[in-house]
Amino acid sequence: MENPKNLIIVIFGASGDLASRKLIPAIFSLKSQKLMPEKYAIIGVGRTKISTSDFRTKMSESIVAFSEEKETDKTLITSFSEDLYYHSMDNSAAGGYDELKTFLHETDDKYGIGGNYIFYLATPPSMYEVISVNLAAAGLSDQQKGFRRVIIEKPFGYDLESGRKLNARLHELISEDQIYRIDHYLGKETVQNLLVTRFSNGIFEPLWNRNYIHRVEITSAESIGVEERGGYYDSSGALRDMVQNHLLQMVGLTAMEPPSSLDADAIRNEVLKVFQSLQPIKEEDVAKQVIRGQYTGSLIRGECVTGYRNEKGVAVDSRTETYVAVKFFINNWRWGGVPFYIRTGKRLPTRVTEIVIHFKPTPHHLFQREAGKMPANQLIIRIQPDEGILVKFDMKEPGAGFNVKNVNMDFHYKDLANIRVPSAYERLLHDVMLGDSTLFSRDDEVETAWKFLEPIQKAWANNPEIKIFGYPAGTWGPEHANDLIEGEGYTWRYPCKNLADDELYCEL
Ligand code: NDP
Ligand code: BG6
Repeated sequence: MENPKNLIIVIFGASGDLASRKLIPAIFSLKSQKLMPEKYAIIGVGRTKISTSDFRTKMSESIVAFSEEKETDKTLITSFSEDLYYHSMDNSAAGGYDELKTFLHETDDKYGIGGNYIFYLATPPSMYEVISVNLAAAGLSDQQKGFRRVIIEKPFGYDLESGRKLNARLHELISEDQIYRIDHYLGKETVQNLLVTRFSNGIFEPLWNRNYIHRVEITSAESIGVEERGGYYDSSGALRDMVQNHLLQMVGLTAMEPPSSLDADAIRNEVLKVFQSLQPIKEEDVAKQVIRGQYTGSLIRGECVTGYRNEKGVAVDSRTETYVAVKFFINNWRWGGVPFYIRTGKRLPTRVTEIVIHFKPTPHHLFQREAGKMPANQLIIRIQPDEGILVKFDMKEPGAGFNVKNVNMDFHYKDLANIRVPSAYERLLHDVMLGDSTLFSRDDEVETAWKFLEPIQKAWANNPEIKIFGYPAGTWGPEHANDLIEGEGYTWRYPCKNLADDELYCEL
């Protein structure tokens, strides 16, 4: 694989959770795989006052705790940490950026980098604009001497208007091709494999349309709650945190037309067309097509689990959704009339992300099957964990008669010998270093995704009578979400049973 040009990565928000749990371990993995440039330095920036030496120690500990490398060789960690630096400054004050510039130039001269810088904005979203303004004012995003790229974390805005404003402001400062809006789901190997599954297999693509597909279901379930991020999450909720980005990107790749090439814009143009074809949900239909929920306290395997409103940083009367399920249609030739069901939630029974393609039954039921069982061919693309692909099909049960049984054909990534699946951040950081924006959201994609969600956000804001249903932690969300599908004689696919026993439900 190609090695990037010499560069410096500046991480704003380096004292935060993302930097220590994901970014530094990902860069360490790239170093272990020999995918870092010959010369590079990482500069962590933040208001927290710590020395470079303490930063190196803290990041070395993070690598041991969070790296996906099987062997975290101490010597390699020590040599890796020698290229880490920390620069303390207030990101929001313009005054500090001249000092940062001086520090960057000194580091650049020391290593002989040649002016290529990447700025990673791993701060609260409210800081994205001010940091970009200050970088531009200090001349740090000017590309006369080497490339300057800015990575922006999600969420990109909190609704259509703020997303548009942020795009407009950034475009006044830097060009679109300098901006890398990160959606770490696009860095997941299995999400990228959607393209290969669809466009490299003659057996799937001819069936991938309204003639053969009955419905599409996408689930992204988490067993954890909001953990230490209650403050952020309470102002965000599942719709902004997961649907606007991760789930809609999965919808885009599942539903898109074949791109004309693997070029970044060719792929993103096709995803954009899917977003543009999403049938708008009318405000008056939101209560019917969108179910929201919030986890309550419960007992899971004898242990009390805190309800959302009792989490740190969450308002006691919060109406923020920790679960959301949406039914919608894509108005185009391929998907006309095929319902898409997506759902995501925290404190569900397990952690699983999967895309389920439900094929239409045969036109005539020739064989007998168990009472109540519908004929079902499903293709299940398991994004995580236990990454793989599962095909469910019917076979004859051995013996007398023609009894039909549904069985599995199962492929697991873990069965591939000697194949290492890189972490999402590793892949995405490497792509930014190479200047490849294929797996990053473009301005128009982000805005069109917000546009689709706008009526839902408005309906929730304007109609307090639209219910937010409680669901005990450890269950598959509010039972009302079943009506989205069950009303039509089908159910969601449940990868495992509820963990919480409703009988044991306890208010905390
Ligand atoms: P944190 O809340 O931990 O913030 C990161 C750092 O930003 C802090 O350590 C702090 O450093 C700095 N910061 C915080 N508040 C301010 C402020 N008001 N002004 C200036 N600087 C501030 O966030 P995370 O690390 O969890 O996330 C960073 C970004 O990445 C967020 O946008 C988040 O949505 C996104 N993200 C995070 C994920 C995760 O798993 N954590 C996953 C996906 C996206 P200091 O005080 O030293 O300046
Ligand atoms: C982040 C969300 O973008 O994705 C988190 O902010 C969520 O709330 C996380 O937990 C899920 O990512 P993954 O890779 O664990 O599925």
